[in-house]
Amino acid sequence: MVTYKVTVIGAGRAGNIHLQSLLQLSSMFEVVNVVDDNPSQAIQLLLSSLKGIRLRPVKETDAAIDEADVVCICVPTPLHEQVILRALKRDKHVFCEKPLVHTLEAVATVYDTAEQRGLNLLCAMLRRFDTPAAKVKQQIEAGELGTLLNINQVNRDCPYPPMSFLQRSPNIYYDCGTHDVDLALWLMGEKPHTVFCMGHAFDPSLKGLDDHDNGTVVMQFPSGAVSCIELSRFSNCGFDQRFMVHGDKKSAGSISQPVDVYVEMSHSGGLRGSVLRFDFAERFKEAFLEEWRHMYRCLSGDESVLVTKEEVISVTLTVDAINLSMHTASPVSIDHATQTFCKKT
Ligand SMILES: NC(=O)c1ccc[n+]([C@@H]2O[C@H](COP(=O)([O-])OP(=O)(O)OC[C@H]3O[C@@H](n4cnc5c(N)ncnc54)[C@H](O)[C@@H]3O)[C@@H](O)[C@H]2O)c1
Repeated sequence: MVTYKVTVIGAGRAGNIHLQSLLQLSSMFEVVNVVDDNPSQAIQLLLSSLKGIRLRPVKETDAAIDEADVVCICVPTPLHEQVILRALKRDKHVFCEKPLVHTLEAVATVYDTAEQRGLNLLCAMLRRFDTPAAKVKQQIEAGELGTLLNINQVNRDCPYPPMSFLQRSPNIYYDCGTHDVDLALWLMGEKPHTVFCMGHAFDPSLKGLDDHDNGTVVMQFPSGAVSCIELSRFSNCGFDQRFMVHGDKKSAGSISQPVDVYVEMSHSGGLRGSVLRFDFAERFKEAFLEEWRHMYRCLSGDESVLVTKEEVISVTLTVDAINLSMHTASPVSIDHATQTFCKKT
């Protein structure tokens, strides 16, 4: 079995999760370098107990890339494009956190560069690698749900993200909503022609940031099907992630995965739900591993990259349109053929 060498660039929250996944998949991947001038304490602690992984400063990025077969990019999103291109131009396969890049031009540039060089570029759209989502996708493709009517999604984040992260994030729709938009488009097999978004910043410290911490996005698809995404930075019960696809024959989806097997328990005090997993790292632990197993199969030539350039373009365009709707409080129509969108009058 071939083992691929990996350099992880960016040692914060996402870097820590991917490092731990890669360490679990040690027959497939060997982490050789972690690059960051300010690695998180969790990563410093982890690396202090391991041999063979070098923690290197950012000025040694090129040398660290050269020692790897695959570069795992976990730096803040505004830096993705430059780091992706740096790795691709040194002929390395790339695994990059979402959102991949922030402009349509950049999406085209990074995918075209990967294609010209015959390299894999995986945008890590985590939700697709969660078992319930993959199973529902198979059922949809097998026609079991019939004609799709609605997809309802709940994404209530936990814990409230650190202000240092929010200050660098464009807004909740780009950061969190990208996951839900990608899942909706992938499951529906369609691109929305209209989006509408309403929300609010309840946390006063967000006021200067042009962001919401609570909102809803509605999307309509050419078939007539409608998607509704409830997005919030507040959750009173743990990391609350749900989706349900309703067809005219059957509905299928997933509630937030509980820690135990019970979802609801009745007792003398009434009905009580079971405890949810605390955060994205716990809830999607298996999906993070599956992303890397998929990357391995892509590197081995057994599978093609699940997330395509066209899909990333559609999601980027859709989230841009949602952003316009957020700012105008109006529905926004999208023309995917010309890659344009405009406020509906
Ligand atoms: N899939 C998911 O559910 C998920 C969850 C969290 C974050 N993310 C994504 O992961 C990316 C990183 O987010 P995060 O929460 O880990 O951020 P973070 O702030 O916790 O970590 C980013 C790290 O990158 C380092 N860094 C900055 N510039 C660098 C450079 N040039 N070279 C090397 N390291 C550099 C910082 O010092 C920091 O340690 C973002 O794109 C985010 O959207 C995805």
